[in-house]
Amino acid sequence: MAKVKSVFTCNECGASSPKWVGQCPSCNAWNTLYEAAVVPASTARAGRQYGVPASVRYLAEVTPEMIARIPTGISELDRVLGGGLVVGSVVLIGGDPGIGKSTLLTQAMATIGQSTHVLYVSGEESSDQIALRAQRLGLKGDRLRLLTENQVEIIIACAQTEHPQVIVVDSIQTMFTEFLQSAPGSVAQVRESAAQLVRFAKQTGTALFLVGHVTKEGTLAGPRVLEHMVDTVLYFEGDTGSAFRIIRAVKNRFGAVNEIGVFAMTETGLREVGNPSSMFLSRQGDAVPGSVVLATQEGTRPMLVEVQALVDQSHLTNPRRVCVGLDTNRLAMLLAVLHRHAGIATFDQDVFVNVVGGVRVMETAADLAILAATVSSLRNRPLGKDLIAFGEVGLAGEVRPVQRGQERIREAAKLGFKRALVPTANMPKKGDVGIELLPVRRLTEALEILQ
Ligand code: TYD
Ligand code: MG
Repeated sequence: MAKVKSVFTCNECGASSPKWVGQCPSCNAWNTLYEAAVVPASTARAGRQYGVPASVRYLAEVTPEMIARIPTGISELDRVLGGGLVVGSVVLIGGDPGIGKSTLLTQAMATIGQSTHVLYVSGEESSDQIALRAQRLGLKGDRLRLLTENQVEIIIACAQTEHPQVIVVDSIQTMFTEFLQSAPGSVAQVRESAAQLVRFAKQTGTALFLVGHVTKEGTLAGPRVLEHMVDTVLYFEGDTGSAFRIIRAVKNRFGAVNEIGVFAMTETGLREVGNPSSMFLSRQGDAVPGSVVLATQEGTRPMLVEVQALVDQSHLTNPRRVCVGLDTNRLAMLLAVLHRHAGIATFDQDVFVNVVGGVRVMETAADLAILAATVSSLRNRPLGKDLIAFGEVGLAGEVRPVQRGQERIREAAKLGFKRALVPTANMPKKGDVGIELLPVRRLTEALEILQ
């Protein structure tokens, strides 16, 4: 293969320079030059001649083939993938180091390996380490082919002789291509290595899993730079301190986004959690002030989580507003609404709000629960353990409907809750749903009910 030269291109204006400089000579931006491979024009255009039309067709003439899917044997992972691994698709799994990416893929590949041909490429761990992990997970590795290698060209050559249907590359940050001189893990290497692997996967119809570490200082050399190249992006979240792990689809060409899968990390690997609500709601003892259960929705799945608030007198000029698992700006806005429309002031109070279990709730349906918990803590009055709440609160003090209200109500009834504070517009049309519904139009109505 011809030696490929590298150039440095500016991320801002696209100008290129033969060597690295701190300031882009063209647009004067600082520190925007990154190494990239130059593909000679002759190879880039090989086989393609100007004047020869590609086949242009009407959309209606194209009959897509049925998408074939391979079940991974882990139903929570199948769910986030949109119903199994699509043959020939490229999936990026991102997450902090040590969160469990290798564990999940080893478990999934051991199952997939029973029916198809799998090649697991590790650039981080030795074969011994992988074997030890598999042993600990109680997996039979008799059908899993293993390769420990860092160079993309060798991996592709190996894949050409092995003909796997699924390849796992763990992790893309440890891979390098001989095209570039920069060190493995640099943006250019990550991007170019991934591009070569993706090209190979697409040409041969191989499904490809790329593992990417999210770097500490932002996500520069991390999976972010690859998101546009792949079909599906999954992020693995969760506190390394707690056992819960959530895998979330943030991009999926073959399924819904925001779908989540819930796992618990145990002694023997990742265990699926089929009913996350019961896990996040480990409420024992009497009802306490400042706690309320929120019916939230993640993808197609309703989930009950506990929202806790602590409101305490502040000695600071700027009282603190701290959120864990929620949006801090949204909290500031909600406290303003609370003051303006319900006359409840918190300007001399520190407000802390937390979602129990390390869950992250970013939807506006949490508004009503956040305010209910805040007011409950401020008044030092518990809300009762049988209550759930959801609803968006607008700037005019109105309570707005949220999507999939019925599913949330049903989930709460299923788990034995007795009362639900819901937006009036989310009231079910049909009669009894097995739970007392408290419909509210305005924030003030909600606060009256919670008196
Ligand atoms: P790993 O999959 O190696 O993380 P990643 O590939 O995302 O960097 O998982 C590492 C952590 O998981 C490690 O701290 C140990 C823990 N673990 C368990 O608790 N139980 C297990 O059975 C396994 C295999 C790992
Ligand atoms: Mg790993």
